[in-house]
Amino acid sequence: MLAGKHILLIVGGGIAAFKALDLVRRLREHDVRVTPVLTRAGSEFVTPLSLSALSAAKVYQDLFDLTDEAEMGHIELSRAADLIVVAPATADLMAKMSGGHADDLASTLLLATDKRVLIAPSMNVRMWEHPATQRNLATLQGDGVLVVGPNEGDMACGEYGLGRMAEVPEIISAIDAALSDGPLKGRHILVTSGPTHEPIDPVRYIANRSSGAQGTAIARALADMGADVTFVTGPADVPPPPGVNVIAVQTAKQMLEAVQAARPVEVAIFAAAVADWHVVNAGDSKIKKDGSGLPKLEFAENPDILATVSQMSKGRPKLVVGFAAETDDVVAHATAKRQRKGCDWIVANDVSPATGIMGGRENAVTLITDVGAETWPRMSKDAVAEALAKRIAEVIV
Ligand code: C5P
Repeated sequence: MLAGKHILLIVGGGIAAFKALDLVRRLREHDVRVTPVLTRAGSEFVTPLSLSALSAAKVYQDLFDLTDEAEMGHIELSRAADLIVVAPATADLMAKMSGGHADDLASTLLLATDKRVLIAPSMNVRMWEHPATQRNLATLQGDGVLVVGPNEGDMACGEYGLGRMAEVPEIISAIDAALSDGPLKGRHILVTSGPTHEPIDPVRYIANRSSGAQGTAIARALADMGADVTFVTGPADVPPPPGVNVIAVQTAKQMLEAVQAARPVEVAIFAAAVADWHVVNAGDSKIKKDGSGLPKLEFAENPDILATVSQMSKGRPKLVVGFAAETDDVVAHATAKRQRKGCDWIVANDVSPATGIMGGRENAVTLITDVGAETWPRMSKDAVAEALAKRIAEVIV
């Protein structure tokens, strides 16, 4: 599985940096190509010479190493590998990553990459347990960063606790898992997400409160399982996940066109909160408040993308999943919606303001299929996404 893969290894400044040398040796034994990046602090613990001797590759240390025409640019370097591994990932590097800093080569590569990132944290137990580090960890995990360790044990500083970097064989297994194909390998899956914006004039539009969080989490979970995901997204609050093909749209009409262009797909998941109407007489220039009375907006119905795809006579995806955001009688309304639209599954949720679901981190859903309704416990949107992706894998693989 590992043979022939290429890893960009960022070595941060911690006492565990010495284990990074062993990691390089073991990866090379597995026929993995390693391109090392050494932070300034990392170079206090291991030398560029030892890293380059063990990896048989150039060690990159400085953003300005990359300004030479003959060298790779940092964008290219950040994307050339199959996976980025940060070992050891210090508290400082984690803080930089979670804050999106780009003030040295390592942080710039981590911000510019479109590849998955695996970190092996290593630090003193108090630093690990500090709320700031735990906050950064939660942010990074929410961004899809993979984490191996840390382990509990004696520390170089004489204390005992969580904070020791994972051992080399554990890091190698985590790399192997991150690079493995996954059960949805090669399956083309479409996910729509986010709100749509329907223009009133060039500066005003009709929108809704969808953040795109649930659709994004679903796309990420499917991509993590190896699916080839086309992610058609309206203007969402959260960024698209790494490793998916992003098609950004504004209106329902554009979303339908993008969905049609993405076909054929095996599975289609419609998590977008599509506006029901658009303004037919939207202005080409800004509508003025000129005393001539209120503007008269005329509305027309938007195409129902879910119903259109569900009811296709030719080339219908094998599995079509819709969402139903309801504020009352959730299961009854969603069951009726499944029938009306003709989709296979409906993921129903209660979006009454009191639930805090719309725009929040958690979701409480009921999955409605041809065999009935199944209510899942309230959990994070990421956990809902993972559970849904697993269910999809069960039925199509
Ligand atoms: O009819 P309603 O908007 O409640 O249906 C919600 C489901 O239908 C969601 O899956 C949503 O993505 C999809 N939908 C759509 N196109 C529309 C309206 C809703 O795909 N125009």
